[in-house]
Amino acid sequence: MQPVANASSPIGIFDSGIGGLSVLRHIREHLPHEDLLYFADSQHAPYGGQSAEFIIQRSRVLTEFLLAHGAKAIVVACNTATAAAIQTLRQEYTLPIIGMEPAVKPAAAATKTGVIGVLATTGTLKSAQFAALLANYGQHIQVVTQACVGLVECVERGELDAASTRALVAQYVTPLLEAGADTLVLGCTHYPFVRPLIAEIAGPQVTLIDTGAAVARHLQHRLEESSLISPLQAAGKLQGWRDDQALDIEAILASMR
Ligand code: DGL
Repeated sequence: MQPVANASSPIGIFDSGIGGLSVLRHIREHLPHEDLLYFADSQHAPYGGQSAEFIIQRSRVLTEFLLAHGAKAIVVACNTATAAAIQTLRQEYTLPIIGMEPAVKPAAAATKTGVIGVLATTGTLKSAQFAALLANYGQHIQVVTQACVGLVECVERGELDAASTRALVAQYVTPLLEAGADTLVLGCTHYPFVRPLIAEIAGPQVTLIDTGAAVARHLQHRLEESSLISPLQAAGKLQGWRDDQALDIEAILASMR
């Protein structure tokens, strides 16, 4: 039987791998008294080239796992899984489910050249959700997209500063700069792990936007709406899994510069 969740219960967070820790970091800063559960589905990463059916199936398994550990809300800390699976999850589960999407709207507001670049997975860029995002917020600007095949794997291997990672980032970022983009959207939760590399290659005149802080604010709002904000005053506890192993969340966060 599933434990009955209440305001003191933890928040469950999942991603195809460790990328969603870039979101967890913001959630912890924003909601320091919340207990957080994190599941990295690294064995099945990357999701980016997988079918929607596969991603929906994995998202169900991970949601069930987090529910079984008492989660009061679920954060899908993955743009690709949000695009593929969030509608299904919301139909099948009644607890608050928070997803994320590439920050096209704030980037459109920030650009001065009128050109923004979106770095994301193939799955995100091909999704109906992304098409809707462009229709809503990309009408009066030029949006140049770039699928960053292979970059999630570099992050999963912990190769945050390797020469091969740097070469891949340069290969993906350079065409966006050449197209005139002055604002780059980090449309995959793994990419903040290589933000220093992206920033170095893009240069100081280019603004990088990621969605983690906005997701944390939205999560707070949803918890307040549902009277699910933790009444606890102590620092929230962290518990993580990477597949069937315990995940040392602090150690991975410490590797992010
Ligand atoms: N972190 C996931 C995202 O935000 C990566 C997806 C993948 O595994 O390819 O899209």
